[in-house]
Order: sequence, then C-alpha cells, then structure tokens
Amino acid sequence: MALKRMSATEAARLIKNGDSVGFSGFTHAGCPKAVPRALAAHAEEEHAAGRPFKIGMFTGASTGDSIDGALARAKAVNFRTPYQTTGDMRAAINNQEIAYFDLHLSTLAQDLRYGFYGPVDVAIIEACDVTEDGQIVPTVGVGISPTVCKLAKTVIVELNSWHPRELRGIHDLTQIADPPHRQDTGITGVRDRIGRDHIPVDPSKIVVVEVKEPNEGSGFAPVDDITHKIGQNVATFFVAEMKAGRIPASFLPIQSGVGNIANAVLAALADDPNIPDLEVYTEVIQDAVIDMLVSGRVKFASGSSLTVSNPCMDRIYADLPFFKERVLLRTTEFSNNPEIVRRLGIIAMNTALEADIFGNVNSTNVMGSKIMNGVGGSGDFTRSAYLSIFLTPSTAKGGKISAFVPMVSHTDHVEHDVKVIISEYGVADLRGRSPRQRAEAIIENCVHPDYRPLLRAYLESGAKGHTPVNLSTAFSFHKAFMETGDMHNAVLSE
Ligand code: COA
Repeated sequence: MALKRMSATEAARLIKNGDSVGFSGFTHAGCPKAVPRALAAHAEEEHAAGRPFKIGMFTGASTGDSIDGALARAKAVNFRTPYQTTGDMRAAINNQEIAYFDLHLSTLAQDLRYGFYGPVDVAIIEACDVTEDGQIVPTVGVGISPTVCKLAKTVIVELNSWHPRELRGIHDLTQIADPPHRQDTGITGVRDRIGRDHIPVDPSKIVVVEVKEPNEGSGFAPVDDITHKIGQNVATFFVAEMKAGRIPASFLPIQSGVGNIANAVLAALADDPNIPDLEVYTEVIQDAVIDMLVSGRVKFASGSSLTVSNPCMDRIYADLPFFKERVLLRTTEFSNNPEIVRRLGIIAMNTALEADIFGNVNSTNVMGSKIMNGVGGSGDFTRSAYLSIFLTPSTAKGGKISAFVPMVSHTDHVEHDVKVIISEYGVADLRGRSPRQRAEAIIENCVHPDYRPLLRAYLESGAKGHTPVNLSTAFSFHKAFMETGDMHNAVLSE
C-alpha cells in the first residue's frame, strides 16, 4: 500500500483542538517547518471563526521559529515542555498564557512512555527519507522522535529534500526499555552504535508532506574578549589538571553546552597545543566542533543534533562521507543519559545565568521569575559528570548585574554537583572545600572586582553556621537591580 501524501495545509488539519503533538528535532536542527506553520495558520482561522484551538507541545529541545515562534504568535499552545529559546514563546510563557514545565531533556521520552503527560496524538517528523514500508530517516536533529513516532496515532512526515537522503547512516536510533525491563545501555564508548539507521513506523500511520526548505539556524556571535578569556581559562585549567594527573593524558570525552560561550571555549581548546585531540559526547554539535573535526582536533563527535549555521551545514553536505565517519546522532535519552555520562567520565561544561558564592547555579530563571530557556541537558550532564564545570561572564547587562550573588534567585544545579566555576577572571575550584572556602574561592577568582567588596561584606555579615548566609540580605543584589537597575546599589545592612 502506498504511503498517503498531502499538502502541509491538509496535514495540519489532521490535528484537532486539544491534541498533544510531538515534534522531531533538537534546537532548530531536524525540526519540521511547513506543517507547524500551516498548523499556526489553521489555529488562527479557527480563532477567527470563534472556535478554540490549542495544542500541547512535546519537543526534543528548543525549535525554530516555524514551530515555537509561529505557534506562540497564533496563540495555539496550551502547554509546552521541555525547553524553548524563541522570543515569542518565552514572552507567552512569562505572561502565563502558556503552561510551561521545564524538564531534564533526557527524561522526556521515558516520561511520555510512562504516560506522565497524557497521550501523544500526532507526531510531526522532518525526514530526509521515508520508505513505503515505513522506515523514517530523520535529518540533523533527533530528540524524542522514535518515542513520539511509536506513541502517536498519526505520524506526519515532512520529507525535506533540502537534506540529502545519504544522511542515512549518521544516526543511531533506538529506545530504552522501560523499568522493570531496563538493562544497561550497552554504550561503553563515544562511537558505539546499538540502534538502527531509521525509525520503523507502521506505514498505515504515516502521512507524507513533501517540502524543500533550509534549516532555520543562525550563526554564532564572534568570539569577544570576555568569551575568549573564559575559553583560555578553561584550557589552562585542563592543562593543569592533566599535569596533576586528575585528567588522563588521553583526556576524557567532553560535553559543551549551547550558545556563544560554549562555542568560544571549544575554539580555545582547539588552539591550545597542550590539549590532546578530543572526543565529544554531547547533545548539540555546534560550528566549532565541525571546524575541529576538519582540523583533526576532534576525532569523533556524538550528539543529538547538528546545531550549526547554514554555511556550516553546506560544508558538511559537500563532504558528507567524511562527516558520517566522524559524527553520530542519537536520541536524547542516549546522548544525555546519566548512566553513560558517569561511565564514560564526561567532562561537562555548561553556562550559568548566575551562581551564588556557595556554588549553587541558576541556569533558567532571570531574577528568580522569568524563564530564559530551560534547564536543557545541563542537569543530565552536571550531576553525573567526571568533572562538572560552569562558565559565565562575571557580569551581564553592561556590568549592572553581577553573575555572582549572595544567594541564587532560582536553583537548577546545587552546590553538591558543581565542581568548578570559571569566569573571565579565573577559576574557582570548589572540590573539597567547605561553603566558606568555596565563597572565598569564588569571590577572589571569579567575581568582577567591582563586586568583590560587596560580596566580602556579605560573607562577613553571614550567620556563624556551616553555610554563612545572611537571610536578611541574601537577595539584596536582586532587590537593588529590580529597584534601581543596578546591583552595585545593593544594601547589605539590615
Ligand atoms: N541576569 C539577567 N540576565 C542575564 C544574566 C543574569 N544573571 N546573565 C546573563 N543574562 C542575559 C544576558 O544579558 C543575555 O541577554 P541578551 O540576550 O538580552 O543580551 C542572555 O542572558 C544570554 O546570556 P549570554 O551571556 O549571551 O549567554 P548564553 O547565550 O550562553 O546563554 C544561558 C546562557 C544560561 C541562558 C544558556 O546557556 C542556557 O539556556 N542554559 C541552560 C541550558 C543548558 O545549559 N543547556 C546545555 C546543556 S547540554
């Protein structure tokens, strides 16, 4: 029986008000575009006709504007998980128009199979190939695709010929068995494969929409003085750790977070001749890793997506056999799996919005209340890592915000999990230190000099217990920013 084929508009109409929809992809990479845009248009028509139309959204991570942007603007979203980065979606969540819940990315696929968040009615999957017997080959982002294909009653395949069919073979696609039948993952090395090169789906569930559209990826900001300095501090720290015998001479696989800082750190590692050629076991493979694969500084990269700019994507497609030998794309429950992170001894590097002087980290909520993106995979890696590192510029917003505060306004990563913090000023090694010693290391090594006297004064004003907090002034930095627009005005007297 031939697969059903239809237009994006017709496919979008298969989705009903109140449905929960699972999308392929991870970041903009691997996300469908035409069907979600048609879905947003359909929602607007329904609203204009006075009928309600909202869906629930499950994704691998963030998405492109055609999903999060278009659906948020169309007021077509009831709830959303696990991560987002689009301005319109963020605004709708912070206005409480959309009920968002923030999850560790590795857990969503299993939580869906456990039935924690209700059914998945429809899956929309970007593919570079689909066969008549139901083999779906994703494009450059995997996320939760195998799970939503399995659970959904209807699987809309957005077959995007912008991506070559020859991508087949770059993926390792499978699901973990659920308890009480779960066994170990079987992955003992960065390059290990345990799954298929496609997602098998009952062909009677499949609807195909043919499109040709580029990725929605933007580039990275050029490395500036601060991100460059953070990168150099990371490289210097690693070299010292190798010398001290705390990181093996052959090094360990690295995970690096999302964004410009992560990209700059990788570039600094590539430039340091004392750092050996690396293996990467991460969730997003960014442009810097592609440069390092080409130069030989990265030997192999395993991730859940190729989150690269379009010029970089062109480079990959121009020499696909080279990259297929060196890159592997997995589902997020494998790319971010804490069991694998602990076994491989991954060195995890993620970015903080703010950290407190005792080593607790806020990655998600600005001033404790406004979501930025979400916890993403940072928690999946941080707690289980061989060495967990947080990176941050010492200040934000032109110096008016100190990234180091007396007490974080929201906690994503606790002092027990955060081993090292690095800013452009230096490295605070928190291993084996008491809360007071951690505070001293952070203040003297990472904090911007403008804020050091204030934080020293806060520390001295603290209670005399094990953790010297002062509950009367713990949020004085945040209060000063909210009231005066500048944390320099923090008042530490009660
Ligand atoms: N208070 C308020 N705003 C702050 C801030 C703070 N303490 N620290 C940073 N910001 C603002 C910046 O000014 C910037 O705002 P702008 O876009 O309006 O200029 C924005 O936050 C992003 O900061 P930036 O310094 O550019 O860093 P980034 O792009 O690397 O993002 C995170 C930092 C924390 C938001 C991002 O890394 C993230 O979402 N992390 C959580 C998920 C994660 O770690 N995933 C990786 C797992 S593998």
